[in-house]
Amino acid sequence: MPLKNVLVVSYSQTGQLADIVREVVAPLRAAGHDVHVETLVPETPFPWPWPFVDFVDAFPECFQLDPPPIRPLSPACDRSYDLVVVAYQVWYLAPSLPVTAFLQSADARRLLDGKPVVTLVACRNMWLNAQATMRRLVAAAGGRLRDHLAFIDQGPALATFITTPRWVLTGRRDRFLGMPPAGVAPEEIRGASRFGRALAEALDCDAERGDDPMLSGLRAVNVNPRLAISERAGARAFAIWSRLIRACGRRGQWRRRPLLALFVIYLVTMIITVVPLSLLLQTLLAPVLRPRLAALREQLESPSGSQTHNLARYES
Ligand SMILES: Cc1cc2nc3c(=O)[nH]c(=O)nc-3n(C[C@H](O)[C@H](O)[C@H](O)COP(=O)(O)O)c2cc1C
Repeated sequence: MPLKNVLVVSYSQTGQLADIVREVVAPLRAAGHDVHVETLVPETPFPWPWPFVDFVDAFPECFQLDPPPIRPLSPACDRSYDLVVVAYQVWYLAPSLPVTAFLQSADARRLLDGKPVVTLVACRNMWLNAQATMRRLVAAAGGRLRDHLAFIDQGPALATFITTPRWVLTGRRDRFLGMPPAGVAPEEIRGASRFGRALAEALDCDAERGDDPMLSGLRAVNVNPRLAISERAGARAFAIWSRLIRACGRRGQWRRRPLLALFVIYLVTMIITVVPLSLLLQTLLAPVLRPRLAALREQLESPSGSQTHNLARYES
């Protein structure tokens, strides 16, 4: 059987995404495939935990896809790969800045051109807009997006509006006021190995050269269409706010801080009023909305889907 070369490009601050990547990669290596994990390194590191001002000040450039530079890739990236996995976190409904920087680079065009690409996201729970951007960036680099895997924080959607920012701003992710710990559940992280096993089998029979998803039937994603509607509204507002704030100055400049403060007030107001109200309204209107939400869900879950028919085969 021809062994394949797999490149995994990743950037994670806490190591959570790196843990998920490790689970996916282990079965590929066990099957004899050659996997190189390239960890992106920003030229100026991003802080962890984030000071509040830096956290807010990162928003406009995240959303407008204007990243600061990353360090050159390691020499292992000079070769050609059979499959590329891009693992990312979401920052302000967009891919994190280091991943955006990579996908916009000449290196990405060389590595992805004509190649099958699998995207993997681990974030709070709002990744739809970021994934739409990833689709565009992967396509612009010449890559063929074949599968997408999504890992989200374990708490209820509304609780994560508190637990995830608390984690990002203080570094503390433990159980808080009765809410589950921030981040992806440990059993979900361990379960990521099923994707590695399925990918290894797909590579063994050259399935990466085709066009169909390789990871369907494995509950690769699970979209809550009700959150999708809130996220769409958020993305529309972010487009306006990010342009306005950038018109006042560059990242780090004092003169854009008054507008950043207004943005924070807007964001908090939305989270405590509009998001719960919109979820409540959608629950009340569920009988009317159901067919539309089902169609939206199917569209947003492509290509890999939320079906589970292959789980028994690849779960350990
Ligand atoms: C600046 C910033 C913005 C974020 N924005 C979002 C977001 O819009 N949606 C989301 O689901 N998660 C968001 N997160 C959470 C991250 O996607 C991720 O879950 C968290 O930073 C931990 O990632 P890591 O363990 O890979 O370092 C954000 C995190 C940071 C630092």
